[in-house]
Amino acid sequence: MNIYKCDVCKTVYEVIDPVDAQREIVCCGKPARLLKAGETDAANEKHVPVVSVEGDKLIINVGSVDHPMTPEHWITSIWAEFADGSIERSGLTPNNKPHTEFDLKGRTGEVTVYEYCNLHGLWKTTITIE
Ligand SMILES: [Fe+2]
Repeated sequence: MNIYKCDVCKTVYEVIDPVDAQREIVCCGKPARLLKAGETDAANEKHVPVVSVEGDKLIINVGSVDHPMTPEHWITSIWAEFADGSIERSGLTPNNKPHTEFDLKGRTGEVTVYEYCNLHGLWKTTITIE
């Protein structure tokens, strides 16, 4: 999964197909920028996802101190990318808590959780599910 942003119109693109992930994404006549997690200088404790497992649920909070959820500054999406290649996504609104839960459906191994903040970009953390 790759996340791109157009620096002209600010549109964010989520590319989930591994074939398409190799392609250039063009917006406003220019290549969109591939976002890297944690490239923005901002408070780690409010952006790095905190991930735990309870039973068959993956529980995610952004972050160790809740990220603000206001119309001006909020977490728009949380994704979990599993070792088997499957991806879960939760779209949030400013009225939600910076929190989501996904059913594991028996999936184990490495899972990388990403979140996107409208002001501070992409952040991630990786854990291993036994
Ligand atoms: Fe933020």
